[in-house]
Amino acid sequence: MQAPIFEAPGQTRVGRFGWKDQHSSLLSFIADAYLNEMGITNRLRPTEVTQVLNITKGINDQPDDLGLADIDHFAQFIRGTMVPPRDITLASTPAALKGQQLFRRLGCSTCHIETIITAPAGTVIDGGQFTVPEALGDKIIHPFGDYLLHDIGTGDGIVQVGPQDTANKLRTAPLWGLRDKARFMHDLKSLSLGNAIERHKGEAREAERRFDELSPEERAALFAFLNSL
Ligand code: HEC
Repeated sequence: MQAPIFEAPGQTRVGRFGWKDQHSSLLSFIADAYLNEMGITNRLRPTEVTQVLNITKGINDQPDDLGLADIDHFAQFIRGTMVPPRDITLASTPAALKGQQLFRRLGCSTCHIETIITAPAGTVIDGGQFTVPEALGDKIIHPFGDYLLHDIGTGDGIVQVGPQDTANKLRTAPLWGLRDKARFMHDLKSLSLGNAIERHKGEAREAERRFDELSPEERAALFAFLNSL
């Protein structure tokens, strides 16, 4: 699904950010969040959402001495954060290794893709506005997600920038760093991994059916693997 690139007006790219993949570049996502979550207008989102209690005039986020606005610094900060590290100790236990095989056998990895190789350094993306640097190019990453939209029966009926059929689709949640979460799924309604998996229907129905057939030990192995990511 294509989403607009705010910093390259008129151009689009495959959406990868936000629950509805409604943004195709990190900077677009940040500009939108600055406006809609914090009420800070910026050069990519210059129009206030409300004038109630607004005491400022003009665009709030102005460039500094370096010519960079807050949204630019924030994008650099996010790009500089590391991916969540795996729990190496847990990952090498027999249970987690067995869980990894089960994950593949159940078909979880059709959406929760294990490995992605980032674009080569020097690739120009985001409508010509960003060049992939050495530090981010040609990297093998293990997000356990395809960043694409699927209907697994947890849809919220909301259409953002996509066509009508995105109403009940959501972005596959990447599973790296899963062990740091206390609640799961976009609505945070799942308090356990078991419940999150059992809520997979629709396109994920088959994988969920196979999960239902697992023995208690196999489930424990799958959870050990998921908690090692
Ligand atoms: C057809 C694609 C698809 C398949 C197959 C699939 N998932 Fe998912 N998974 C998703 C989507 C989409 C979400 C986000 C749903 C939401 O937020 O409502 C998700 C969310 C999750 C979450 C919650 C993550 C979080 O951070 O909240 C877990 C855990 C998970 N999946 C595990 C699994 C496991 C284990 C399997 C295999 C039994 C599986 N999934 C198969 C698409 C899939």
